Amino acid sequence: MPETMSQAVGSQIAHDDAIKAAIDTIVAQVNQHNSTITDARPAQEGTSTDYQSLLDRAGAVKGRPLLYPMIGSGAGNGPLVELADGSVKWDMITGIGVHFFGHGHPDLIRTSLEAGTQDAVKHGNLQSNFEAYRFCEVLLDLAKRNSRLTQGFVTTSGAVANESAIKVCYQKHAPASRVIAFSHCFMGRTVTMAQIGDSAGGRMGIPLTTQVDYMPFWTEENIAKAGGEAQFIERACEQLQEYINRYPKQHACFIFELVQGEGGFNVAPREYFVALMDICKANNIAVWDDEIQSFGRTGEMFAYETLDLGEYVDVFCVGKMTQACATLWTNEYAPKPGLLSGTFTGATQDFTAGIRILEMLRDGDLYGESGKLAKHHQIFREQVAALAAKHPNWFPPVKHLDDVCGGIGGMMRMTPFGGDQKKIAAACKACFDEGVILFWCGHGPHHVRMLPPVPVMEESHWLKVFECIERGFAKVAG
Ligand SMILES: Cc1ncc(COP(=O)(O)O)c(C=O)c1O
Repeated sequence: MPETMSQAVGSQIAHDDAIKAAIDTIVAQVNQHNSTITDARPAQEGTSTDYQSLLDRAGAVKGRPLLYPMIGSGAGNGPLVELADGSVKWDMITGIGVHFFGHGHPDLIRTSLEAGTQDAVKHGNLQSNFEAYRFCEVLLDLAKRNSRLTQGFVTTSGAVANESAIKVCYQKHAPASRVIAFSHCFMGRTVTMAQIGDSAGGRMGIPLTTQVDYMPFWTEENIAKAGGEAQFIERACEQLQEYINRYPKQHACFIFELVQGEGGFNVAPREYFVALMDICKANNIAVWDDEIQSFGRTGEMFAYETLDLGEYVDVFCVGKMTQACATLWTNEYAPKPGLLSGTFTGATQDFTAGIRILEMLRDGDLYGESGKLAKHHQIFREQVAALAAKHPNWFPPVKHLDDVCGGIGGMMRMTPFGGDQKKIAAACKACFDEGVILFWCGHGPHHVRMLPPVPVMEESHWLKVFECIERGFAKVAG
């Protein structure tokens, strides 16, 4: 509910019983419609021409066909999403991590309706209702439990949250202008983030003005090359020290994507991060934690909590599942006035839904060793193992990969077809046709990626999801 003084008209609207009753009616009615969606299904007969015309129009707007023939109808139920042609799919990628609470969630519909009663759709840095601040306040209260983060800036995309983070680091350590990042990281698509993000395609044609020194991430290949885990950590520390010696006092920050998203759902142990972060601290280099993809999904709410690294984090970014995006920092990194602003902080609905999502993460049963994330991750692994046992030829050994499934918590990956890029993409597309939406990640080996809506999933859903996957993979295996 909006927070205004009790005499204000805004408060009268927020507490109006007639409005509350109308919202209750709408939520119940929408829920009744959505609850009729109970399984994947093909398109309704006679819809293909109209649906194709929608896809053509969407493709014309973008200048190329959509990656998946996917236009939502506006309806869905938990992990199931309905498309405009009446077909229903298991949504195991959730807009690359945005719909963690699935589709048609009654609480989120309610907060959206409440947001819709307000005088303005969007809020800004100059003028705002309270929800933008409340969103960041709730986030900070959660962050403060296990870190030194105290203040924040709210914005509309992950890439802009990262832009704000790099500015905070640059200002604190001016004139240091270099950045340290992991190989295969992803940070978004602004001009600066596209340069730091380690993908050749992402920076093609972009002037290279940001000086980035890349560190190896924790991969089986890197560890094998170094001759063991301890040796790998030692060599990485030497490499980091070498960069610092080569460019003394010129590094503003080290950007840590603690669980690599686009890079392949790669995870690393605490010791590796601690070794590198200790060097950062000793050399006055900001530790910047980008959890835009991983927040909420690892064993604890913050990935830095899962890895017990909260003490080290100077600057932090979140987005995707929180609907609104934010950059947080410690007292020492507080920027000077004028550094961070912009017309929009976001829409009222971003904040009301974002606040509700943070509350549901906080009050739910997701985290810890026996939490829902751990349980569903285990079921996912069992399903992959069963599929690989049934179709061993679909899962040939992959060089430098011990296991055909990986990731952590709600970040799940499997590696069929030897991690071959073309086959993985074809398999994802075939699975889409068979009723499950997946995506890919990694730069070789490539993986099938899932960011499922764990809070709204039941254990029994996995069997159905994997039936669709089996049919899809069969088409590609030939
Ligand atoms: C780790 C990470 N950082 C930043 C971003 C960029 O966020 P956005 O696409 O909202 O700009 C992403 C998006 O995938 C991401 O995974």
